[in-house]
Amino acid sequence: MKNKTAKYERIYNQIKKLCTPINNPYSRMATIIAILHNKIDYFFWTGFYNLDETGELLVCSYQGPLACLRLAKGKGVCWASINQEESLIIQDVEQFPGHIACNSKTKSEIVIPVKDNYDKIVGVLDVDSTDHNSFDNYDKEWLEKIVKLIYQ
Ligand code: SME
Repeated sequence: MKNKTAKYERIYNQIKKLCTPINNPYSRMATIIAILHNKIDYFFWTGFYNLDETGELLVCSYQGPLACLRLAKGKGVCWASINQEESLIIQDVEQFPGHIACNSKTKSEIVIPVKDNYDKIVGVLDVDSTDHNSFDNYDKEWLEKIVKLIYQ
């Protein structure tokens, strides 16, 4: 998909330019969320969940409707992505056993693990859409590239 690639390329370059001079992961995460959420129309909820020192997965920067602050351990798509150490695309959230519905409008979802400089998973980027089948491998590929900018 030429248009999608071109759009993600522009977004990636903008995030890179803005984030490079600011060496702080939280400022970078907030910037990534603001840009992604406001530039991609099917992103209904866009945010990070970060692991805290006790191993809880807690909400961090996000845009969209109010979301769960803490995700019950081992349950749902975000924890599955962390435990499997890979990005997950869920085309119909109702088909995912244990899916945590923070908002009943969410129909599909993509979750990307975030790794720090030591290659350790420190959280996830989670994006929800109100339509089924919103996310594909272009989203996965580009969002994986974008989250690498947080600790680069
Ligand atoms: N659906 C996620 C929970 C986070 S909300 O989508 C914002 C999950 O199942 O882990």
